[in-house]
Amino acid sequence: MKLFCLLTILLVQPYSLMSQEYKLPNLPTHNSDDFVVIAHRGASAYAPENTHSAFRLAIEMKAEMIELDISLSKDGVPVVVHDETVDRTTRATGNVGDFELEELKELETGAWFDEKFSGEPFPTLAEVLSYTKDKIAVNIEIKSEAVTDNAKGGIVDKALRIVKEAGVEDQIIFSSFDYRVMEHLEKLAPGMPKAILYDKSQSGNLSPSQLVKKYKGDAFNCSHRQLSNAWVEDLTSKNIPFFIYTVNDEALMEKIIKKGASGIFSDKPDILKRVVENL
Ligand code: G3P
Repeated sequence: MKLFCLLTILLVQPYSLMSQEYKLPNLPTHNSDDFVVIAHRGASAYAPENTHSAFRLAIEMKAEMIELDISLSKDGVPVVVHDETVDRTTRATGNVGDFELEELKELETGAWFDEKFSGEPFPTLAEVLSYTKDKIAVNIEIKSEAVTDNAKGGIVDKALRIVKEAGVEDQIIFSSFDYRVMEHLEKLAPGMPKAILYDKSQSGNLSPSQLVKKYKGDAFNCSHRQLSNAWVEDLTSKNIPFFIYTVNDEALMEKIIKKGASGIFSDKPDILKRVVENL
């Protein structure tokens, strides 16, 4: 009888059982379609990327997750910014890591996108996580330039503390193009979901599933340009969740959803939501 029950469970719920080894964040938004709409740097087609305006808009649009990038200020505070320098998104120039937080706070990060966003403040990770709790999950991408060999006291350690202080541990997934981040997470917070962002130079000839296994990842993230049919087969055959960036074209969204992706990063989460709902 016990064997019969076990077989029944295996046959009825193969996905949930087999995917148990991969930990993904809770999605505070009700998500009946099981597909994750990820607002890339916030709803960044409509508001300046990686700003409070872009994140709040993503929440309003009912995206299930926001993706943001973090680096460290000179005084070691995790700040939200994509580029290594402030040149593109502020009126100043120089490396993010050469500015103290107080100096970054004197800059504004909205006018480059549209004058109506002029005065948008440079956000810290702690500020963003203060309003995402139970509203939206967050993919924290750690920028390579802020990563060092030391786990303790480094950017991963600092980000983990902020996540804990905000009480959002179950609503976060980390990712990075620098695979030392995977090792640091494994050491400091082995239960925290982490996604491998495909980087050819660190991957050798390993397939996506081999990379996920090697770094004890929970998901595989890559560009839609990199996603081959062989990779789809490799990932789906092992039930590994995969998330694809950055897709703003409706036809391409549809194609990638049909390939079995678990989620898509888009600058237009409203459009992606509509595509998912109409499929
Ligand atoms: O994390 C997915 C995607 O955002 C990676 O590309 O260049 O936007 O950091 P990038």
